[in-house]
Amino acid sequence: MARVEAEVGVEKSGIMKWIDDRFPFTETLKLHATEYYASKNFNIWYIFGVLATVVLVLQIVTGIFLTMNYKPAAADAFASVEYIMRDVEWGWLIRYMHSTGASFFFIIVYLHMFRGLLYGSYKKPRELIWIIGMLIFLVLMAEAFAGYLLPWGQMSYWGAQVIISLFGAIPFVGEALVELIRGDYSISDITLNRFFALHVIVLPLALIALVFVHIVALHHVGSNNPDGIEIKDHKGPDGIPLDGIAFHPYHTTKDLVYIIAFLIVFSFVVFFAPDMGGYFLEHANFEPANTMATPEHIAPVWYFTPFYAILRAVPSKFWGMFLMVLAVALPFALPWLDRSRVKSIRYRGWIYRLALTLFVISFIALGYLGLKPADTVYVYLAQFFSVIYFSFFLLMPYYSSIDKTKPVPDRVVYHG
Ligand code: HEM
Repeated sequence: MARVEAEVGVEKSGIMKWIDDRFPFTETLKLHATEYYASKNFNIWYIFGVLATVVLVLQIVTGIFLTMNYKPAAADAFASVEYIMRDVEWGWLIRYMHSTGASFFFIIVYLHMFRGLLYGSYKKPRELIWIIGMLIFLVLMAEAFAGYLLPWGQMSYWGAQVIISLFGAIPFVGEALVELIRGDYSISDITLNRFFALHVIVLPLALIALVFVHIVALHHVGSNNPDGIEIKDHKGPDGIPLDGIAFHPYHTTKDLVYIIAFLIVFSFVVFFAPDMGGYFLEHANFEPANTMATPEHIAPVWYFTPFYAILRAVPSKFWGMFLMVLAVALPFALPWLDRSRVKSIRYRGWIYRLALTLFVISFIALGYLGLKPADTVYVYLAQFFSVIYFSFFLLMPYYSSIDKTKPVPDRVVYHG
């Protein structure tokens, strides 16, 4: 028996050797897992990158199964989704996992981005990780927008109508651009077909490629941590950062616990509240698209509403569009807008704490206002919160440089 085991062992290492001679398998595993050292003081804010990866996989897998029964044609699309919901084995589950996954993706990514603001993760030397992250965010928004047209419900149709027509506000090229996106004089079968191509292949490929580069850049410079201290600056005699622990098995084991907790919450929504009171799946979208009847009140899905509220806060279509684009573009510049000497909020002064609190309040308020009809009082409020939103970024070079910071310790703070 012992001899057999020994033989198996020899054979296993033989296979590993065979692979390693031809492909850097063990080397890669060491570099990115068993000998990748991340700070030991990670807190809950550090889980959202992993959860975003889990949801990305979930969306791709459920998306593949949906594609097997979905028909990307204006005449068939709505009915094919009904068919998936009623007749395809487990079709309802796959669809609800995909639609719930979309909203959870944004919840997770917004929290992941907020962590960056808390701990200055975008600051040197992680500027590129942040920029790549922002590109992921743009592609994610395009992916969600294209996906929303596919069920060909009332909101799919009219939501796309409103958003695509916005491009018409761009001087000179606007109208031509609108036609190029639609592929037709109005939203039609042709538009649905190209959105399908974008949603199932172009944008997912771009997302996967960007996430790959995001992680490569992260592993090149190393993760930040809640103290904003570079752990590579304090290494032991073995060359291992004193405050670092191996990503595998230590972080992976802890991450698994969070992933299970996440799946429990996710399942709860999928099984008990898949439309989330009309926030995850809008009620009007349970009716097939009718090109002759506009829904009473058109609002995008919740994750777009902060930007939609900024758009509507301005009476001019052009300036509304301009400010909405600026609202999405400004976070790209964060690494250069922030002049603070410290990264983490733990060692920043009251000014940044106050600014970040006001920013979060304004973002949530704008999200709420974007769901409401464009009545005067809501528009005034949206204008007020838009000013706060933009001030957070535009005044940052000033307030982050005068903010009184606390001394940063040499080693990370960790209470086991
Ligand atoms: C599909 C979406 C995304 C995935 C799968 C993803 C994945 C990850 C993973 C696995 C990590 C390491 C674990 C962690 O620190 O949480 C990470 C770190 C990071 N991500 Fe993302 N990410 C995504 C989107 C974004 C976006 C939209 C941004 C910002 C605009 C961003 C900015 C960052 C930054 C700055 C770090 C380093 C954080 C630190 O070390 O403190 N990511 N990401």
